[in-house]
Amino acid sequence: MVTLPDQPLFPEKSRPALVWCRQALPWSETLSAPSINQWVETLGQRIVAALKDEQCPWALLLGPAVPEMNSVSPRRIALIEQGLRDWLKRKQKRLLKTLATPDIPTREACAILQVAWTDPTTAYWSYVPLPTVQAAGAALSLFPAGMPPIAEDHEAPARAFSKLMEAQQRLGRFIRPGETCVDLGASPGGWTWVAVQQGARVMAIDRSPLRADLMQHANVRFVKGDAFSFEPTEPIDWLLCDVAAFPQRTLELLRQWLGQRWCRNFVVTTKFRGSDGYELLPAYKEHLRSSGYEFQLRRLNANKNEMTSMGCLPSNEAGPEIA
Ligand SMILES: C[S@@+](CC[C@H](N)C(=O)[O-])C[C@H]1O[C@@H](n2cnc3c(N)ncnc32)[C@H](O)[C@@H]1O
Repeated sequence: MVTLPDQPLFPEKSRPALVWCRQALPWSETLSAPSINQWVETLGQRIVAALKDEQCPWALLLGPAVPEMNSVSPRRIALIEQGLRDWLKRKQKRLLKTLATPDIPTREACAILQVAWTDPTTAYWSYVPLPTVQAAGAALSLFPAGMPPIAEDHEAPARAFSKLMEAQQRLGRFIRPGETCVDLGASPGGWTWVAVQQGARVMAIDRSPLRADLMQHANVRFVKGDAFSFEPTEPIDWLLCDVAAFPQRTLELLRQWLGQRWCRNFVVTTKFRGSDGYELLPAYKEHLRSSGYEFQLRRLNANKNEMTSMGCLPSNEAGPEIA
């Protein structure tokens, strides 16, 4: 989606530059069409040609190339999508049977077809067959433009709630009823609130209290204290950590929790000040790689000058055991 200019993007002395990628469109081609009907015809033909020998499920990601720029209206996209379904019903009904619904676009099982509009009449088209989707892992998002839909929620104690919502979507794993969470740096309680809404039990650690309703909540135990010296006494399903701390401290905390297998899943924010701390990225990556956990290291759409480390124990490894 980015065309590189002839001149370097960044002057020599400020390299290396760090760019977080929200979505990739491998082997993309530019398509143009003047009307909704013409888009339906053009894309219908592309889809049929791409999937002519495929039996696997496929996900169709339609959206603006850069959501912030409103390059195409949601209504226009919805009309094109409906038109495409009708077109396929008439011309290639079998493909509708393998079209993944939003609930089952699993990375393990889907080819990914993307259309990313730069304006109403121009878009990038990309088709990625299943083996490449599997090899790409988290580098290829299952959401149009790499933006999981997060509904506004005015009941949440803090906007930070959206980080945990997004992290779960990106992981494709969700906190389940009855699971246990430790929320480090929990105040005022956005993440704790998400977890209890999903039926979990939460031990929330912070120096400041949570919002009053959460302090009273039957499934929340608040511990006033230091996130970095907290150690769990029983197996934990989710480590949630949004502590405001220097990146080196957060890395140490991750090392301890993952090294000791204290949690089965984790979502941990690292906060930067300006460009300070970014030099630790290779150490984060190296640690996560060697931890044995499956992981993603991303800048979430809900992140500011932050990144999120998240992951889980692989399914073939037993859950945490704590002496
Ligand atoms: C960004 S806020 C967390 C927001 C929270 N995730 C939410 O959704 O409401 C960071 C929190 O880290 C807490 N914090 C910073 N250092 C801490 C420490 N050493 N121990 C415990 N809490 C700490 C702060 O008190 C603050 O409440």
